[in-house]
Amino acid sequence: MYSSRLLLTQLAGLSALVSLSLAAPVEHVDAFGLKPFVVNISKGVPRMLDLVNQTRLPDRPEYAALGSSAGIALDVLKRLQTEWTDDFDWHREETDMNKYNHFTAHIEGLTVHFIHQRSSDPHAIPLLLNHGWPGSFLEFLPVISNLTDKATTSTGKPVSFHVVVPSLPGFAFSSPPLANWTVDDTARVWNTLMTRVLGYKTFATFGTDWGAGPAYSLYDNFNTSTRAAHFAFLPFFPLTPDQLAEQNITLSSSLEQSEEQNFVEWTTTGNAYFMEQTTKPNTIGLALQDNPGGQLAWMGEKFISWSDPRAGTPPSLLNSNEILRSVSLYYLTRSFLSSVYIYFQNPHGFKSSYTKAQTDAPLLFSSFRYNVAFWPPALVEQVGNLVLYKNHEFGGHFPGLDNPPALVDDLREIGNYWV
Ligand SMILES: *[C@@H]1O[C@H](CO)[C@@H](O)[C@H](O)[C@H]1NC(C)=O
Ligand SMILES: *[C@@H]1O[C@H](CO)[C@@H](O)[C@H](O)[C@H]1NC(C)=O
Ligand SMILES: *[C@@H]1O[C@H](CO)[C@@H](O)[C@H](O)[C@H]1NC(C)=O
Ligand SMILES: *[C@@H]1O[C@H](CO)[C@@H](O)[C@H](O)[C@H]1NC(C)=O
Ligand SMILES: *[C@@H]1O[C@H](CO)[C@@H](O)[C@H](O)[C@H]1NC(C)=O
Ligand SMILES: *[C@@H]1O[C@H](CO)[C@@H](O)[C@H](O)[C@H]1NC(C)=O
Repeated sequence: MYSSRLLLTQLAGLSALVSLSLAAPVEHVDAFGLKPFVVNISKGVPRMLDLVNQTRLPDRPEYAALGSSAGIALDVLKRLQTEWTDDFDWHREETDMNKYNHFTAHIEGLTVHFIHQRSSDPHAIPLLLNHGWPGSFLEFLPVISNLTDKATTSTGKPVSFHVVVPSLPGFAFSSPPLANWTVDDTARVWNTLMTRVLGYKTFATFGTDWGAGPAYSLYDNFNTSTRAAHFAFLPFFPLTPDQLAEQNITLSSSLEQSEEQNFVEWTTTGNAYFMEQTTKPNTIGLALQDNPGGQLAWMGEKFISWSDPRAGTPPSLLNSNEILRSVSLYYLTRSFLSSVYIYFQNPHGFKSSYTKAQTDAPLLFSSFRYNVAFWPPALVEQVGNLVLYKNHEFGGHFPGLDNPPALVDDLREIGNYWV
């Protein structure tokens, strides 16, 4: 019974591959209802743009001298509002998204949406990329095609990836989970997706922001299938400068000191949204669910203040159009409300005591100068088998958007440790 079920699911994985290579939709009758998916939600665009156009922002800032220190600046929001109504083209964005192979599958009662882009190299490493909030699968579009390409690691080993980018439950096209759902449940579903739906016996994973939760849970709890993990964020609460000193951890460079300072700023003046979404997600969720301009202020502030001040200049692709298409995706999929519940559902999603994962698999870590949280190598090595730690002067909280070449290079280093 078990083995024939396994065979069936392997066949399902195989037919997904066949459908990819034929680039044509194929009907799948299998346990997971795997089928190709096309992004096609332009029906909601006229209402969205009407609402944006009808949102009347004040003529001038209440306290101009505060700039953006009290939240997103009025002039920034107005510029984005004008760009949204006058220059933004959802059809163009949809066409761009549909260059990738999207699928949906049914796992544990959830509809799971994901991109599955295979390398032409049969020895490619299966790689699951986990986005966070206010991100989405869009965070990784700039890196997918280079990751599938045949390349080499820094030591000359050949490397390429079969890339899988799911939408977290409750985000974009993945259905909202049960009220008591945690990132550990998501990890279990992702393990099923990789091994049983797609037929990969082993895989590597990457996580950032809330995506670090399921990625770390896979690393810790699914150690036979998850054979490498790479993070730009950890599901452990970072330490304050005093707590670092108590642990005798000294910061080794001005880069590390400035990154630690970002965390101090986040934890003192930048975490009210975190408390709101952890304690009363329904209030902010309902307030903004049908309010695209409100979502732009709430999430746009994060995109801007959590990324490199040079955002939008090379190598960063995080420009205003990228912010607008990300917010549009939340609005058009009506997933803002369900997305903010991830905080409420995971009150202990960022653990305060550092414990080591139960695995011998390699762990890689990438820091980016303008990220909002910082873990020096001495902390990262407490949670896993740290084999590589990289620190970048350019980029911030959304490495796939604000320093995509560095993320590609660092992910390729997995090839040096993959067995
Ligand atoms: C999107 O859906 C509409 C029907 O709602 C259909 O006419 C159109 O062809 C679809 N577009 C794509 C790209 O599939
Ligand atoms: C915005 O609304 C005004 C009327 O209130 C209308 O004249 C204008 O064309 C609209 N602009 C856009 C881009 O829809
Ligand atoms: C989560 O909620 C569902 C439905 O209410 C219930 O069946 C399940 O046992 C709950 N799980 C946990 C871990 O409490
Ligand atoms: C830090 O160093 C002091 C002095 O060398 C030592 O007493 C203390 O145990 C150390 N603390 C930790 C957490 O290693
Ligand atoms: C996986 O975890 C179990 C404990 O849950 C441990 O006994 C085992 O050694 C681990 N395997 C590897 C390959 O790290
Ligand atoms: C992808 O590869 C091309 C060709 O090597 C390069 O020009 C580009 O910068 C790379 N992009 C990323 C995001 O790594």
